[in-house]
Amino acid sequence: IESHAQELKAALHQYPNFPSEGILFEDFLPIFQNPVLFKKLVDAFKMHLEEKFKGTKIDYIIGLESRGFLFGPSLALAMNVGFVPVRKEGKLPGECVKAIYEKEYGSDVFEMQKEAIPAGSNVVIVDDIIATGGSAAAAGDLVSKVGAKVLEFDFVMELDFLKGREKLQAGVFTLLSGQAEALEKK
Ligand code: PRP
Ligand code: MG
Repeated sequence: IESHAQELKAALHQYPNFPSEGILFEDFLPIFQNPVLFKKLVDAFKMHLEEKFKGTKIDYIIGLESRGFLFGPSLALAMNVGFVPVRKEGKLPGECVKAIYEKEYGSDVFEMQKEAIPAGSNVVIVDDIIATGGSAAAAGDLVSKVGAKVLEFDFVMELDFLKGREKLQAGVFTLLSGQAEALEKK
């Protein structure tokens, strides 16, 4: 996993002053442009989860709109488990559970289809990055609302100085830890 992580870190592309002045944006999209790196990203998470949850059945990978959709379904397929999306309000048909979370300006709402995950399921929530932890915490609330359990929150990157993981009710794994000091969100 460590050698995969080193290679993946090297592929990140830094954009100073994006999306606003003074912010160094760490772009992970180059990973997806190269199938060898994309596979290493998926394999690294898969290896971590299989090792960490040996003997525990993982039932679903949950990905957060939008950037959690870039690799969540691929990871689920590699692990032979289901994928369930958490989407921004008003995008999903049928009955949904809702959770409000704080953004830089005002609040936003995440939704998940009520029937998507049976009560008692074990899930792993994935996203590109944890900053304040608001998005991930809201996703965790949705999982609780349907009576399922979050085994772990898995991110590619973490802005650890924002202490987002303190908002979460389960363990956190960050694949490219150590990269975070250089990053800033919005
Ligand atoms: C970004 C990022 C995470 C979230 C992290 O998503 O992709 O999902 O913010 O921030 P937090 O820990 O402070 O909640 P954003 O809401 O910008 O939307 P996007 O994924 O659709 O680009
Ligand atoms: Mg996002």
